[in-house]
Amino acid sequence: MKKWRCTVCGYQYEGDTSPEKCPICGVGPNKFVLVEEIPDDLPDKEREAIQGLLFNVSYGLYIISSILDEKLNGMVSNTFIQIANTPLKASVCLGKETLTSEYVRESGVFGVSMLGKDNRSLISHFGCQSGRDVDKFKTLSYITGEKTGCPGLLETLCFVECEVEQTIDLGTHYMFIGKVVDGDGFSKEEPMTYAYYQTTQ
Ligand SMILES: Cc1cc2nc3c(=O)[nH]c(=O)nc-3n(C[C@H](O)[C@H](O)[C@H](O)COP(=O)(O)O)c2cc1C
Repeated sequence: MKKWRCTVCGYQYEGDTSPEKCPICGVGPNKFVLVEEIPDDLPDKEREAIQGLLFNVSYGLYIISSILDEKLNGMVSNTFIQIANTPLKASVCLGKETLTSEYVRESGVFGVSMLGKDNRSLISHFGCQSGRDVDKFKTLSYITGEKTGCPGLLETLCFVECEVEQTIDLGTHYMFIGKVVDGDGFSKEEPMTYAYYQTTQ
């Protein structure tokens, strides 16, 4: 089994050859690079079947932001989730190659702007280009989180701030587990889901 990564949006795909088209940003196979060959104890057919079952997992979409040396950055993620109530804790998994994961690792803080169904344009803005090439917050309205300094996008539903308590190395990704330390609500629109984003593109 081989692992391929889209050089435009960071989407990762596992298969013997790169996919014909990136399901996230739509680019062709020449935009994929081979990341690694993965030893897999499951036969290909069984693996594909199990992967198909995992497509039933529901996800929301979020902009994960951070700040390092007064520079801001953020990316799209579908892996943010609340994991505890008292105290409030949440986790997110970010690809190691992303600039946002570097900022979160070094600063120990991240912010989460929760997307509504009207926030489609933010998904390509934050999910299909890297902060290494462009200042993603330059043209957008945001608040500065009082506890962490992370930016929260005003056109989204709401914003929470997290302080990292634990970082788990997952190989291709880091999982950041954080305490939720502050938050602001902006709008009561319906939340964006990954399924809605994919079926209405
Ligand atoms: C719908 C969608 C969901 C995504 N979810 C994740 C995710 O959960 N984890 C991740 O590492 N990248 C995810 N990405 C890819 C990153 O947002 C993308 O690689 C981004 O350009 C990284 O930006 P940065 O280098 O400025 O941090 C997603 C992209 C899209 C379009």
